[in-house]
This record gives sequence, C-alpha cells and structure tokens, in this order.
Amino acid sequence: MPVQHTLRLAADPDGIARAAELLRAGQLVAFPTETVYGLGGDATNGKAVAGIYAAKGRPSFNPLIAHVASAKAARRHVQWSETAERLATAFWPGPLTLVLPLRPDHGISELVTAGLDTLAVRVPAHPTARTLLATLDRPVAAPSANPSGRISPTTADHVLAGLDGRIAAVLDAGPCGVGVESTIIGLSGTPTLLRPGGLPAEEIEALLGQSLARHLQGDDISAPGQLLSHYAPQSTVRLNATAPSEDEVFLGFGPVDCDENLSPTSDLTEAAANLFAALHRLDATGHPIAIAPIPERGLGLAINDRLRRAAAPRMP
Ligand code: TXA
Ligand code: MG
Repeated sequence: MPVQHTLRLAADPDGIARAAELLRAGQLVAFPTETVYGLGGDATNGKAVAGIYAAKGRPSFNPLIAHVASAKAARRHVQWSETAERLATAFWPGPLTLVLPLRPDHGISELVTAGLDTLAVRVPAHPTARTLLATLDRPVAAPSANPSGRISPTTADHVLAGLDGRIAAVLDAGPCGVGVESTIIGLSGTPTLLRPGGLPAEEIEALLGQSLARHLQGDDISAPGQLLSHYAPQSTVRLNATAPSEDEVFLGFGPVDCDENLSPTSDLTEAAANLFAALHRLDATGHPIAIAPIPERGLGLAINDRLRRAAAPRMP
C-alpha cells in the first residue's frame, strides 16, 4: 500500500468541501459521526471501496454500511418497507443502521455488500457528516476508521494513530458524542437485532410494539463483521473484575478506585462515550487491562458486546 500524506482537515465549510472533492475523486477520507469516526469511500466506486479494505487490512467477507444524507437517499438503493419508514422517521438521523434488501438498480459496488443481497444503510446525525453527505450526494461506505481488529476511533488522533499515511485525509471535529457504533437492525424478515449499539434496543422495541429477534454477531454470515476477536487492544483484557491484580491497569465503572473510570456516577451514556478513548489510553500503558462489571441494560448491551470482543481470544 503506497504511503501518502494524510491531511488533517478542519470541520469547516472549506474542509468539508475538500473532503467531498477527495471522495468524489475516489480517495479515502475519515470523517466524524456521532458514534465513531468512519473511514469513508464512494460506495458506488469499486476501486475506492477496495481501498477501504486495503487501508484497514479488513477481511473482504465483511460488508460495509452505506452512509447517506436522508431516508430519501437511502430509498434509491434499498427496498423500503413500512417498518423501515417507522424506524427512520423516529430515529434518523442517528445511531441506527437498517439492513434491507437491495433494489435491482442499487448502483452500489459489490464490494460494499460483500456479495449479500442486502445493504446496511444509515443516516448519521453528526453535523459534519450530514453536510459532507449532502454536499457529495452519493452514498459513502464507511467502516470504523481503525485497522481491522483494533479499537474503534472516537477522535481524529485515534484515526491518525492507526491509518496515517494510508488515507488521503481525516476531517477533525473533535471527540464523538455517542462513542459506540450504531445499533444494527435486520429488516429482511422479522425485525432482528444484529448488533447492539448507540441506540438502545429497548427504544426500538417500544416504538415497534414488539420485541426484536436476536441474531447476534458470530452466529453466521448474515451478521458478518462479527468476528469475535474485534475491537481488541494490544494488551490482554479481563472482564467483570472487582479489583486489578498487581500488574493490571483497571478500567472502572461507578464509585471505584481505578486508573480510568467510564462513569464515576454509573451513567451508561457517559460510559459509552468514554469507552474507546479509555481503552486507547489504557492500552498505551502496555499493561494487561482489568475491567469492572457493566450492567447489561440500555447502552450497557453495546458496551458489554464490545468488551467481550476485546477480551476474546485473538485471531492468529
Ligand atoms: O456507527 C457505526 O455504525 C460506524 C460509523 C462509522 O457509522 N460504522 C461501523 O461500521 O461500525 P463497521 O464496518 O465497523 O461495522 C458494520 C457492521 C459490520 O458488523 C457488518 O458485518 C455489518 O455492519 N453489516 C454490513 N452490511 C451488512 C449486511 N448487509 N447484513 C448484515 N450485516 C451487515
Ligand atoms: Mg468496526
């Protein structure tokens, strides 16, 4: 992969216009969303999408989310449904991804879907992402902007730490607000939770008036990306720790004595926003990481999902 100079662009009108120009030319640009930074490439341009996989070192059976400016733009690519309309009306723009059957005339590179007949679409809420997508007026494929298998980036510095020299630019708008990736709902059949994320599953169930089927990651290829050892720090990770051993650094939650605290007041929203940055800092110490128990409700589902992956045995 050729080394290039990676520009750090300000998230102002000039920076966003430059980012749109680069994307239109088939270049890769990392950009902020409310969840994490995405590594964007033109989803209609196979070469650009191949570049995403190359820059991340990502296994190519792992399909990508197409980011668009509006539900109207999403409908150009997927077969819309009444349930999609209800969810989009309630939660877009926001941390929700919908997986829907592709339209015959979808125009999306096959590298985005990795050969599936469905497409994951999302309308992000971050103002910089919204302006960029509206300016570009085409779908942007964007996985989280980290090398495959590493911790997701919630700042432009995290992006550059992993991808400097491998992408054309990063739009820097400071830290992401939500801090964990979007919730993914499959809508090809029964509404199914494919990945817990920044929008609590309970809110979706309340709106639909039914519980979601669960088909969590790792089950099979309909929920790919779900390699178990994902989001992994370099150091080993031990979950549900009440106290660190002598060599460990301790990631706490609630009123505990620790090296980093996800939320001293036990607020799960704050914990999600801090999760990846705290892991990045603890990982940089080179010590094994012990992590306090996190309640399995609301955003705790997404946090625990990421932590279990961080703790899973590593792929060779
Ligand atoms: O918040 C987010 O979703 C971030 C920001 C950048 O938008 N993006 C993100 O992308 O997390 P990524 O590539 O790291 O995760 C996308 C997930 C993967 O687990 C992938 O397998 C799943 O979406 N996915 C994509 N297309 C799919 C499809 N057609 N069917 C099932 N799962 C799909
Ligand atoms: Mg990712």
